[in-house]
Amino acid sequence: MKSGGDYSNGFNGDHHHELERPEKQLLGGLSSFGRAKRRSRGVAHDSRGGLNNGVRVSDELGEQKQLETQKSPPPCTDFDVAYFHSYAHVGIHEEMIKDRARTETYKEAIMQHQSFIQGKVVVDVGCGTGILSIFCAQAGAKRVYAVDASDIAVQAKEVVKANGLSDKVIVLHGRVEDVEIDEEVDVIISEWMGYMLLYESMLGSVITARDRWLKPGGLILPSHATLYMAPISHPDRYSHSIDFWRNVYGIDMSAMMQLAKQCAFEEPSVESISGENVLTWPEVVKHIDCQTIKIQELDSVTARYKFKSMMRAPMHGFGFWFDVEFSGPASSPAKTSSGISVASGSSSVSPSREGNQKKRSNPSDALVLSTSPEAPPTHWQQTIVYFYDPIDVEQDQVIEGSVTLSQSKENRRFMNIHFEYSSAGRSFVKESVMR
Ligand SMILES: C[S@@+](CC[C@H](N)C(=O)[O-])C[C@H]1O[C@@H](n2cnc3c(N)ncnc32)[C@H](O)[C@@H]1O
Repeated sequence: MKSGGDYSNGFNGDHHHELERPEKQLLGGLSSFGRAKRRSRGVAHDSRGGLNNGVRVSDELGEQKQLETQKSPPPCTDFDVAYFHSYAHVGIHEEMIKDRARTETYKEAIMQHQSFIQGKVVVDVGCGTGILSIFCAQAGAKRVYAVDASDIAVQAKEVVKANGLSDKVIVLHGRVEDVEIDEEVDVIISEWMGYMLLYESMLGSVITARDRWLKPGGLILPSHATLYMAPISHPDRYSHSIDFWRNVYGIDMSAMMQLAKQCAFEEPSVESISGENVLTWPEVVKHIDCQTIKIQELDSVTARYKFKSMMRAPMHGFGFWFDVEFSGPASSPAKTSSGISVASGSSSVSPSREGNQKKRSNPSDALVLSTSPEAPPTHWQQTIVYFYDPIDVEQDQVIEGSVTLSQSKENRRFMNIHFEYSSAGRSFVKESVMR
């Protein structure tokens, strides 16, 4: 694909490259343009993985209960401190709470599962301002442990008090990995999803809570999560950032274009696209069952894909989005592991499809929060990994390859993205880091 020199400015310390295989040209990296992130930079869990504290039931050994020895929790690194500090700011909570698709779907899910919550013990993993804990108390929970390591927990305590719920909602200011809860819980609720679902790596803390406290057969909300990807075409965005340099007040500034590509497209971009930008049906990158997923599975996720373009268009990269599903222990999850999500309601997207519905049409009728381009907008938007140069694809042209998403060794909250793709006999590699 693109040739070019090494543009590394030494800021990021590592190289990002997109290269056509035969040429093996390495493009260095500039830090990408700034973007508003719901979750600030930060955070690295200790890379030892497995945070299984305390006692839990082992699924793998069938019905046999197995006591696991108490392991010390991973250390709270400087990255963790920075991460939790970012959540002490009011703005991040305001943005999340004002995201009505997010907050109302959680509220609806809690009310829909009232029979599992009423008179029961709940843990809210990462309670923030306490909003989900209060919803659970309103749904009749006997006790809610609202856990947050950020100083926002101080405000959560005040909010709980002001609403007369201090006897029901117990705010614990600390990491889920460190706090002690002296009873088993019936329900875990958490809003843990980062951009591209896995950015931020908070799901590991939900798994830790599950393995520490959840009763066998207990409820986890959300119960399932699915990450999707599809090739996209976004000529306007490309022109806005790149073609702009061709003629600037009558001056040929195309010498700037290589740098502009590096700066604009080195890192994944969080932005809103529409169904019209999507060239094919999406494919599933990862389906997660929150009852069974293990922390180690999240270290690295690889998916192979094979798309057939539904139209002739310049392909500018791949778009990612996710949905989460709120279903009770008894109901079966929607089938999303087969690759294409055509039957899964709100996850699906294509230029020709109708607008998105929040509820699935599958038999379990589980509530779904979707961040698809055709769903009501959310603060997660979509995440786009742009190529430095577009590939012209014909209708029915096949685009295939693999994508690997892995937690950065530098900081586990960062995500390394490794793409391999080929089309019309040409192969490319693109690597980037979502910081
Ligand atoms: C996305 S916010 C959700 C806040 C709130 N539940 C809501 O829905 O508005 C995630 C929260 O989880 C907290 N958090 C993340 N990892 C945590 C951990 N391991 N232990 C305790 N709190 C954690 C963060 O500090 C942050 O306040």
